[in-house]
Amino acid sequence: MIHQTLKCFPKDFLWGAASAAYQVEGAWDKDGKGMSNWDQFVRIPGKTYKGTTGDMAVDHYHRYQEDVKLMAEMGLKAYRFSVAWTRVFPNGRGEINEKGMEFYDHLINELIKNGIEPILTLYHWDLPQSLQEEYGGWESRRIIEDFTNYSVELFKRFGDRVKYWVSLNEQNIFTSHGYLHATHPPGMKDEKLFYQVNHHANLANASVIKEFRKYVPNGKIGPSFAYSPAYAASSNPIDILAAENAEELNNHWWMDIYASGKYPKMAWSYLEEKGLTPIIEKGDFELLLEGMPDFMGVNYYQSTTFESNPLEGGIGAGKMNTTGEKGTSKDSGIPGLFKTIANPNVERTNWDWNIDPQGLRIALRRITSRYDLPVLISENGLGEYDQVDQGDVINDDYRIEYLRSHMIAIQEAISDGVDLFGYCVWSFTDLLSWLNGFQKRYGFVYVNQHEEGDHDLRRIKKKSFFWYKGVIDSNGEKL
Ligand code: BG6
Repeated sequence: MIHQTLKCFPKDFLWGAASAAYQVEGAWDKDGKGMSNWDQFVRIPGKTYKGTTGDMAVDHYHRYQEDVKLMAEMGLKAYRFSVAWTRVFPNGRGEINEKGMEFYDHLINELIKNGIEPILTLYHWDLPQSLQEEYGGWESRRIIEDFTNYSVELFKRFGDRVKYWVSLNEQNIFTSHGYLHATHPPGMKDEKLFYQVNHHANLANASVIKEFRKYVPNGKIGPSFAYSPAYAASSNPIDILAAENAEELNNHWWMDIYASGKYPKMAWSYLEEKGLTPIIEKGDFELLLEGMPDFMGVNYYQSTTFESNPLEGGIGAGKMNTTGEKGTSKDSGIPGLFKTIANPNVERTNWDWNIDPQGLRIALRRITSRYDLPVLISENGLGEYDQVDQGDVINDDYRIEYLRSHMIAIQEAISDGVDLFGYCVWSFTDLLSWLNGFQKRYGFVYVNQHEEGDHDLRRIKKKSFFWYKGVIDSNGEKL
């Protein structure tokens, strides 16, 4: 649909930016914090780009006041951050580590003092290592109780000040990297376990949402899903079917359960045929229905294009580009279902991520049609190299262009009828990219941190910082 005029962004729209504890905080062993699965994983040689860790990250733990000051200067309306479970419960459960709670208390107060709405993510991938060792973390149903207890403590402590909450960040990504590709902790390749782990995560997600209603009755909560809408490579019906397969197995598999408590039928039959269905216990579906979210959080970076993939000799695991050398990623697929293929209609970043603003509009529309839920864009942004010119100037026009085009697509989606209440750009400051080191930068604020050597971590406002300020000031009229 081509609109003659576009609707304005809603009044009170949450113009935001996002981050995650492990990627910004540093202070990995300070003030009683326990060891997380990531603290452990990054120490395994060869797992991250040039062996980078979040030990120091961008030292937000010690510099959060400076960072919030920059947010206030920008006029940011919302800041999405995550809590490190191991700061609050060093071993995942038991005694609360008051020092850890205090850090988030101060951060939240600082945000509110500056008129910035906190959006708190309960889980952004850093699982207490002791729970991984004790019972396999997400591999056991015991995680449901521990994750719920931890979340309830946060509800009790921050529910009076934090209205917006994200339950699980990108369950599809942390489980697939952790249990299919072995690229995230616990570094396994076990398809059957992957589906079981997901079932536990679904139950844990529902359980915290159910509890949330008791403790934060006026709050809003939802998961953040990494949604890459599936396109068909051609109008050949076998490619269309491949894209449908991908949409069902890669996207509906998660979003359906969040929004309706049911697994999609085609995906379920496929898993049954393969002997991969998770074990379901009595009461599971009742719990799932009790944990319906208030919104769907969407992390959108790119669309993915699919074509058919033969059962015999079809393509399996691919390769991610984590070096920033353009063109080094390799297509992936599931034989008999689908395989990815480059989309010749869109540009790619240096890390081979498609740049596709219309894909965001398509994603928002699909969610609205299928689930009829309000949407929060909890992440969207461009990871690129940035260059610091003389006088500490960073002209990141490519980032401005990326964000502007996505904002236009958002405005089109709003005009199409999508109920969108916020947009969090990934990220506010530069931060550690899990597998790509520090050179893949996303921030409005440059941080002088690199893979090698000691650096002063100074903050430098990029050109995009001033541009986003203008967007916020005009409530999206000046894009
Ligand atoms: C999302 C995550 O997958 O994408 C973030 O929620 C992550 O934590 C972001 O950093 C960008 O991914 P990457 O791999 O470029 O850092």
